[in-house]
Amino acid sequence: MTRPPIIETRGLSKTFGGLVALDEVDFQVEEGSITALIGPNGAGKTTLFNCLTGIYPPTRGHIVLRRPRGAGEPPLKTALNNLRPDQVTALGLARTFQNIRLFNNLTVLENVLIGCHTRMKAGLWGALMRTRQTRAEERAMAEFSIELLEKYGLGAAANDLAKNLPYGDQRRLEIIRALATGPRLLLLDEPAAGLNIAETGALDDLIRLIRERENLSILLIEHDMNLVMSVSEKVWVMEYGRLIAAGAPEEVKNDPVVIRAYLGEE
Ligand SMILES: Nc1ncnc2c1ncn2[C@@H]1O[C@H](COP(=O)(O)OP(=O)(O)OP(=O)(O)O)[C@@H](O)[C@H]1O
Ligand SMILES: [Mg+2]
Repeated sequence: MTRPPIIETRGLSKTFGGLVALDEVDFQVEEGSITALIGPNGAGKTTLFNCLTGIYPPTRGHIVLRRPRGAGEPPLKTALNNLRPDQVTALGLARTFQNIRLFNNLTVLENVLIGCHTRMKAGLWGALMRTRQTRAEERAMAEFSIELLEKYGLGAAANDLAKNLPYGDQRRLEIIRALATGPRLLLLDEPAAGLNIAETGALDDLIRLIRERENLSILLIEHDMNLVMSVSEKVWVMEYGRLIAAGAPEEVKNDPVVIRAYLGEE
């Protein structure tokens, strides 16, 4: 398995005052893979997501996104270091959050439409003036959003308020909204948190289905080891801001360094 990375970090560090949350992290996600990032609480996993998605500027180091071009041409490499979150989204990174961040008083469909809007060409002026182009774009987006909801199991709930969905479906909606931005890399921060066994099983199916149907890579932070071992092809392990292991799920599971990191946790 030697696909080129879609994203790569080199010597990535992030400090908060005296606290080193990321310490010289060299990390990559292979194009088209489902990759997991695990580690005890406070290891720096979410901080890595926050750096990748432009929420925190890294203290040091590099983040490089590779995009394939035409046949025979070298990939386009873009440094993500000093970009804003909206610029990173436009380059094809989408994420969900450890604590669900939906617009609770909007409908399921409206939540997905907000994801779509990051791709709208007409811009604010067009939206205000409701030009013919904007109206056509809005119609196309509504259709696209409904299709996404139907494809991933929330079609029947399109007009429900987000806050009235069962918890598992709220997590599902967050993932669908992220898909609406048209990502090439989907970052999921603990999507199984708070889910029961049945909901976690459905999430496992959803993650596989997305990878099968959409042309994208998935990076998953997760504490649910059954889910991690089931869906991922490669697992990276962090502890105290450092990567301490990486490999196939079976290798990582039996790695004494990883076992020690987890046993040291309360
Ligand atoms: N904005 C911030 N300001 C100060 N410290 C922070 C900030 N964000 C994260 N940290 C600290 O950085 C360290 C790594 O936190 P992070 O949230 O990345 O861990 P995590 O691996 O995602 O943990 P968990 O599994 O509990 O979500 C922690 O010690 C945390 O307290
Ligand atoms: Mg976290």
